[in-house]
Amino acid sequence: MNIDTKAVSEAEDESGSNSGLSVRVTVLPMDQVIELSAGDTILDVARRERIRIASSCGGHGTCITCAIQVTDGEIPEPHDADRQVFSERRIEDGWRRACLTRPVADCTILVPPRSTAAAVRTQVDGQAGEVEFAPGIEVLHFELEAPTLEDFRADDLRIQEAFPGKADRFDARLLAGFAEDVRRWKWRGWLASRDGEIVAAGPIDAPVLGLAVDLGTTNMSGFLIDMQSGEVLATEGLENPQTMFGGDLITYASHIRRNPEMADELRKLAVEGANRLAGDLCDAIDAAPEQIVEVTVAGNTMMHHLLLGLPVKQLALSPFISALSAAADFKARDLGLMIAPGAYVHMLANIAGFVGGDHVATLLASEIDVEKPVIIMDIGTNTEISLVQAGNITSVSCPSGPAFEGGNISAGMRAAVGAIELVRIKGDELSLKVIGDAAPVGLCGSGVLDVVAQLYLAGVCDNRGRLREEHSRVRLINEKRAFVLADEEASGSGAAIVFTQDDIRNLQLAKAAIRAATDILLDECGYTEADLGKVVIAGAFGNYIDVASALAIGMLPDLPFNRFAQVGNAAGDGARFTLQSKAQRQLAVDIAARAQYFELASAPTFMKVFGKRMNFTETTNIKNKD
Ligand code: FES
Repeated sequence: MNIDTKAVSEAEDESGSNSGLSVRVTVLPMDQVIELSAGDTILDVARRERIRIASSCGGHGTCITCAIQVTDGEIPEPHDADRQVFSERRIEDGWRRACLTRPVADCTILVPPRSTAAAVRTQVDGQAGEVEFAPGIEVLHFELEAPTLEDFRADDLRIQEAFPGKADRFDARLLAGFAEDVRRWKWRGWLASRDGEIVAAGPIDAPVLGLAVDLGTTNMSGFLIDMQSGEVLATEGLENPQTMFGGDLITYASHIRRNPEMADELRKLAVEGANRLAGDLCDAIDAAPEQIVEVTVAGNTMMHHLLLGLPVKQLALSPFISALSAAADFKARDLGLMIAPGAYVHMLANIAGFVGGDHVATLLASEIDVEKPVIIMDIGTNTEISLVQAGNITSVSCPSGPAFEGGNISAGMRAAVGAIELVRIKGDELSLKVIGDAAPVGLCGSGVLDVVAQLYLAGVCDNRGRLREEHSRVRLINEKRAFVLADEEASGSGAAIVFTQDDIRNLQLAKAAIRAATDILLDECGYTEADLGKVVIAGAFGNYIDVASALAIGMLPDLPFNRFAQVGNAAGDGARFTLQSKAQRQLAVDIAARAQYFELASAPTFMKVFGKRMNFTETTNIKNKD
């Protein structure tokens, strides 16, 4: 799908508004009515009303994740750009993109499963083991005599004398309620001491909790920790609410460039997500978020800056400079987190503009103490790659785009029920594995990777990615070749699910970026692929991919299977470690300080290597697992 973005914005400007009238749109299956004013698109108002419609490109009309169907009422004229992506029949059936559609009369729309942004599969757990529990928070249990006419010491003095050197200061907000609380608790309870500051207090039988958060661009995951034993009490993953404005860093940055107020809107959504995570996790163990006394957050640099309300404009512009790189602590209340009033949030350090605390956490949780060089990569819309050898760490980052999360792919969707996650092609036979064993409605990232690998391995496309017309499933759609994964009868949405020539191209761009970045990193450090002892693939996408498929299309170094390790949510593990152990927190600081960032844009050979890696080439280590 080649969408002319310039044409989209010009057409948008010309199309103007929906003539100043207010229009009521009934949104199914949510059964909610939204009111559109002049100039509003359906997506604009859905976002305001918190109705989830997927929007991988952030509403710029360059993906197709916001597809909706007008099922009743006057069908709005299609936008020119919609004619590029929908067949004539689908246009007649009322298919439009929510970000380009401005209804002129009341109507009803259906948001198909592929376009709802709910119930996305998230990867919470990593595979790292345990660390020795020795956190930066000390829990002080107290059972004190109440004041009398003979013992009229002030409350703070009474506590300080009970715990010399451990209760030198009280958080001011905590102190405001402490006098009343401690009397209600009959002078029995606990205090959370952090470097001599009392940050939280509770009655004797209440749990003392900590929260570790992996704040990702598309998903966030949390670990609720018992701060007296170190035990993980509950875990949860949820979709980052910011995804209603896109799902990748570049899209967020472009929103903010157009409208600086968006930074605050995105900050509020990140805070909303973190509060929801805290609330859900506490609900799971029948506790209250106010019992959370410390939080650690590992996020990419953009998420880190948005959560802290720091400027992000310079992050997206060369030379991509972060406003804050050091690990830092903030009062949770200053960030809007509704936990214990005096609690702190520890933000892990960033390495560079596009290598953030999440990668530091990944490095912390990964096994890097081996003799041979190790590559550690976290694949996403932006891919961070580090080469670790003998205590040296060199990191690069490359924009791999949203294809691995279903974005910029005509049938792409997030990893939710109905997403094809595995594809096998043998001759004319095709088999699919669909999340939730449902009828397929689209393809998630691992499915996208699989289908391209299978098309290549089965000879349906050549080594340059060109589809061959001889295969029975290759059809001409809008004058371009496309491979049919499910026809209209087999599809769960009523529309055929196809993988187009342009989709293959988008995946080639993403995989070439990753492989070229790996090549340049190895070269910069004086190694070849054969020198690598291990390639660690972290992150949600990396957890679900088939390494054989990634090898088949040349996305990963050409090494035997046993040198690859898929470690799940290592960033979450790293965030957890920094909550459970003060020593691990310091180790994360050391890792960030030790890591040398190498800017790929400064490598004169990058574009040449990138061009070479666009093609699919023979790999010596590929063997189809099936
Ligand atoms: S095309 Fe509408 S959100 Fe991307």
